[in-house]
Order: sequence, then C-alpha cells, then structure tokens
Amino acid sequence: MASIPYFLFLKAIIPHLVIFAIYARLQEEGFLSLGCGRAPEWTYPDAWGIQWVSDSGYVSGGTTYNLPNDDAYLPRRTMRLFQGNQSKYCYNLSNNAVRLGAAFLLRVYIRPGQTPPYTPKSANGTMVFKLIVDANEWSTVSVAVNETYDNEAYVRSQGDFISVCLARSTPDGDAPFINTLELRPLPASFSSVQRMSSTNTILTEVQHYNMAPLEVSLISYPPDIADRYWRNIALDDNGPFYKINLSDIRNLTRPEDIDIAPSTLFQDSWKGSPYLSFYWTQLVPSFTFSMQFYFAEIDPQVNSTGARVFNIFINGLQETSFVGPVDVFAAVGANTPYMVSGGADSDQSGTLSVNLTPSVQSLFPSFLAGIEKFTPTRLEPLTSSHIVAAVEALKSALNLTSYTGDPCLPEGYGYEWMNCSSRDSVTAILLSNSRTGGIIPDEIRSLDTLLEIHLDGSDLQGPIPDLSALERLEILYVDSTSDSYVR
Ligand SMILES: *[C@@H]1O[C@H](CO)[C@@H](O)[C@H](O)[C@H]1NC(C)=O
Ligand SMILES: *[C@@H]1O[C@H](CO)[C@@H](O)[C@H](O)[C@H]1NC(C)=O
Ligand SMILES: *[C@@H]1O[C@H](CO)[C@@H](O)[C@H](O)[C@H]1NC(C)=O
Ligand SMILES: *[C@@H]1O[C@H](CO)[C@@H](O)[C@H](O)[C@H]1NC(C)=O
Ligand SMILES: *[C@@H]1O[C@H](CO)[C@@H](O)[C@H](O)[C@H]1NC(C)=O
Ligand SMILES: *[C@@H]1O[C@H](CO)[C@@H](O)[C@H](O)[C@H]1NC(C)=O
Ligand SMILES: *[C@@H]1O[C@H](CO)[C@@H](O)[C@H](O)[C@H]1NC(C)=O
Ligand SMILES: *[C@@H]1O[C@H](CO)[C@@H](O)[C@H](O)[C@H]1NC(C)=O
Ligand SMILES: *[C@@H]1O[C@H](CO)[C@@H](O)[C@H](O)[C@H]1NC(C)=O
Repeated sequence: MASIPYFLFLKAIIPHLVIFAIYARLQEEGFLSLGCGRAPEWTYPDAWGIQWVSDSGYVSGGTTYNLPNDDAYLPRRTMRLFQGNQSKYCYNLSNNAVRLGAAFLLRVYIRPGQTPPYTPKSANGTMVFKLIVDANEWSTVSVAVNETYDNEAYVRSQGDFISVCLARSTPDGDAPFINTLELRPLPASFSSVQRMSSTNTILTEVQHYNMAPLEVSLISYPPDIADRYWRNIALDDNGPFYKINLSDIRNLTRPEDIDIAPSTLFQDSWKGSPYLSFYWTQLVPSFTFSMQFYFAEIDPQVNSTGARVFNIFINGLQETSFVGPVDVFAAVGANTPYMVSGGADSDQSGTLSVNLTPSVQSLFPSFLAGIEKFTPTRLEPLTSSHIVAAVEALKSALNLTSYTGDPCLPEGYGYEWMNCSSRDSVTAILLSNSRTGGIIPDEIRSLDTLLEIHLDGSDLQGPIPDLSALERLEILYVDSTSDSYVR
C-alpha cells in the first residue's frame, strides 16, 4: 500500500482502515473535517460522531468530481482537482480553535480512484504534486490510479487561520487534487507540541503505530482525543503479544499524561525474543527524527523493579542508548501507560533501525505497545501582515482574489505575478497585458521595497496614486487610459 511506503518490518502489512459504527457522541471542539469536491450544503455525520462538511466555503477554484461508488469511506468518494496554472491553490482553515500559537494535527487523504478525470503526466501513471502548509513545504504527494496517499502533520497556527495549499511540483507537472482535509486541535500539554514550541518546528510525516495482533483495527477518535491514526502493524509471525483487558489499564489523570495514547493502545504489547527490532528505509539520510515509545507493564509476572529492563538502540549504536535503561514497572508500576521520547538519527543511507535490547540482568524480554515518529521541520514565519494587507488590497482592486495563501512563501510558491526577494520584500509586480481592470489602490505605497511595477495592458481605470513613497522604484509601466509612464 502506498500510504506508508517507508515503514518496513520484515513482514509489514498495513491493514485497510476498517469502519464500523461503535461510537456515537459529539465531536470535540475545534474539529474541522472537509469533504473536498462536495456540494456546498453537503454534511455527513460519520460513525464516530465526526461531522463532515463541504470544502466549498474554505477554498476557491478547482473542479469537483465524484469517484466511483466503491467501498471507500464515504467522505473520500469525491475530489477537488486544481487544473489551473496558478502556483498554488490554498484552503483557508479557520474556526474557534484556530488562533496564534495553537497546535493542530492536519491530515490529507488523496485518492485518484480507478479512472481519474485527467491523464497522469508520467507514463507509469504515478502523479506527483506538492503539499504546503502556511509558509512551509509539507510533503510531496506521489500516488497512482487505485492507490491512496495520506499524510499527517502537526503544525502551529500563526494567526486566526491556517492555509493548506496544493501545487504542481513543476509548472508542467501533474494537476493536484484532494479528497479530504482534516484539522484536529492538539492539547498544549502534548510533549510533541511542547517540543514544537521550544524548538520552533512543525512536525511532518507524522506516523503512529500500534503493536497489536492483525485483527485489531485502527485506533482513532474516539478514544484518541486528537484523532491520531494508530495503525496496526502486522509483525513478524504476528506476535507473540502480551494482552490485557481494557478495563485493567489504569486511567491517567495527571495533565502531563494527556500525551499518552488512548488506553486501547496498551491492550496488546509486542513481546521480544528477547530483542525487538524493526527499521525504516528510504528516509532523509543523516537526519534527526523525533520518536516516542509507548509501554504499559501488563504482564502480571513482572511485579518488581529490575524484572524487565531494556535499552533502546538506534542504528546499532550499542554504546548510546536512546534514553537510558527503560524499566516501566519501576517508573509507573503495573498496567499504567508510560512514554519515552527522544531524537533518533537516520544513517547515511537513510535507514533508521531500532533495537530494544534487554539488559543482562533483565528476567523478561523487551516489549512495546506503540510508537510515533515525527520529522521536525523549521517553522517558517509567514510574510508580515502589513505586506499581506497591501497585497490583499491590490488583489481586491485588480480582481485577483483567486490567488490565495501566502503571497511570497514558500520560496518558489508565491503568486506568479509578483517577485519577492528576501523575507518581507516584494520587488516586482508583473501584470503586463493581464487585462485585470480595476484601479491601483493607495495601499501599494506600503510595498516600499518595489523596484518594478508592470501594469501596462491591464486596463486600469482611475488615477495613479502618488508613488513617491516607493523610493526604490526604478521602473513603472502603466497605461491609464492613454498615458504610458516610465521612470
Ligand atoms: C496552463 O499553461 C499551459 C502552457 O503552459 C497552457 O497550455 C494551458 O492552457 C494553461 N491552462 C490554463 C487552465 O490556463
Ligand atoms: C481566512 O478565513 C478567515 C475566516 O473566514 C478570515 O478572517 C481570514 O481573513 C481568511 N484569511 C485569508 C488569508 O483569506
Ligand atoms: C484499478 O482497479 C480496477 C478495479 O479493480 C481495475 O479494473 C483497473 O484495471 C485498475 N487500474 C489500474 C491502472 O490498476
Ligand atoms: C514513475 O515515473 C516517475 C518519473 O516519470 C518516477 O519519478 C517514479 O519513481 C516512477 N514511479 C514508479 C512507481 O515507477
Ligand atoms: C478479561 O476479562 C474477562 C471477563 O472479566 C476474563 O474472563 C478474562 O480472563 C480477562 N482477560 C485477561 C487477559 O485479563
Ligand atoms: C478507566 O475508565 C474507564 C471509563 O471511564 C472505566 O471503564 C475503567 O474501568 C477505568 N479503569 C480503571 C482501571 O479504573
Ligand atoms: C511476582 O512475579 C513472580 C514471577 O516473576 C512470581 O513468582 C511471584 O509470585 C509474583 N508475586 C506476586 C505477589 O504476584
Ligand atoms: C522576477 O523573477 C523571475 C524569476 O526569478 C525573473 O526571471 C525575473 O527577471 C524577475 N523580474 C523582475 C522584474 O524582478
Ligand atoms: C471584476 O471582475 C468581475 C467579473 O469577474 C467584473 O464584474 C468586475 O467589473 C471586475 N471589477 C473590476 C474592478 O474590474
């Protein structure tokens, strides 16, 4: 399956998402779940009580398609396809929870279906395009007919909206499309969220795995309040596993425990022999990923400190354990969720292998209930709001409102009719022969880094504002009615 291409256990099988009605309750505050390409009035309450709505109020542009009515989850049976030539097409996500500094899980789901409404550019049928969140490049989508692609990121809002954009990877690349887009608030107490704040990063390629027997289905909302998708991995020989009843897992009440996954994650733990090892390949080489390991001591035989002690080694570095010896019983006692986290480096070939090795004195093998892996990426600040405000005024005066998202960022994905140099520096407006109509707004004077303005052939009406504030302006092409003016 294409959705998680790089996770390789010896026998890695990622089961399909199984959907069945077991929960019915109101969804958490701040959830936003968009069915892309749906009619504006469309809504859908799913089996978990998540309320889906049409994406039409959150994006402009694109064409909508119904996919064949196959067995896919209902919100994923339509798509919005962006066949135009703009450098990017952006969703503006906002609700009561989106405010400066708040953290969110974002999830895209992309599925071309059996007969996509366009022709893939590559002969092998793989379509490639970009995902962008605010001023950060998020990921490169690569998906073929009959495949699916999904991706989660943890982000922090830089204001009262988050923009999620789709873009061709090159000007003549595949047209991007999307089936669903989800926004989930993350509690500020999550250690992953605190790490994002303290290191000024966002986390991309977020993955959550449940070490459980094959028959255990995906864990998500509820019980996971952040709607993380804990995917089950079919392990080598499918086990062995420790098992416990859900009601025996201790409930956590301390605020710092909220990062801990739902109790259901701890019902099964993969049991070592006595080691546990697994690995990823094709990762970014020599990169420090961030990982969280989840445990609960659910074997009644392990009832004392020192009975089960193991080390977590990354890429065979036996001398440098990930976090020091892990003794879950000593840390929190029996049947209690526990988490350790740290940075894990891939090697020069892009492999990240993990070994859980019992210490010499340990009476019991190593074990593991779940893991999370994150790719920390520096948070890029958006273009400053005074620049954005001037560009917004220009857009509305010249009927250019179809251009969405940050005007300059990420680099290479700004509006194609503007040039930006360094941060907060718009150097050119390039609208020759654009036939936009409209007037030049006074706000253009705030773009005081402008060197060139090309507005000839844009059918402007009205007077040209006093541009003496634009001290660096070298070239001005306009033809307001009949006058052309070159400075
Ligand atoms: C996009 O640009 C190509 C040439 O690069 C052109 O053939 C095509 O018509 C354009 N499409 C739209 C929707 O403007
Ligand atoms: C996004 O939507 C919010 C609420 O509708 C609005 O206040 C904000 O101006 C929009 N942002 C952009 C960049 O369009
Ligand atoms: C996609 O799946 C359908 C139905 O299983 C099949 O008929 C079709 O040949 C597949 N297309 C490709 C390109 O694999
Ligand atoms: C398909 O072709 C593209 C280039 O055209 C290449 O980058 C990609 O790896 C190929 N994918 C597969 C699955 O062969
Ligand atoms: C789970 O609970 C059932 C019923 O209370 C009990 O029969 C069973 O032994 C329990 N299983 C475990 C692993 O504790
Ligand atoms: C934890 O809470 C759940 C639901 O509130 C309850 O069913 C379960 O018995 C509790 N577990 C323990 C060990 O108290
Ligand atoms: C503690 O576990 C050992 C086996 O590891 C067992 O022999 C002993 O009976 C257990 N003690 C209690 C109080 O459960
Ligand atoms: C704008 O940027 C493009 C691409 O970098 C460059 O080719 C062009 O010369 C720039 N034009 C101006 C007027 O800055
Ligand atoms: C903007 O475009 C609309 C139609 O797309 C047109 O009715 C309107 O006159 C245009 N406004 C300006 C200022 O040119």
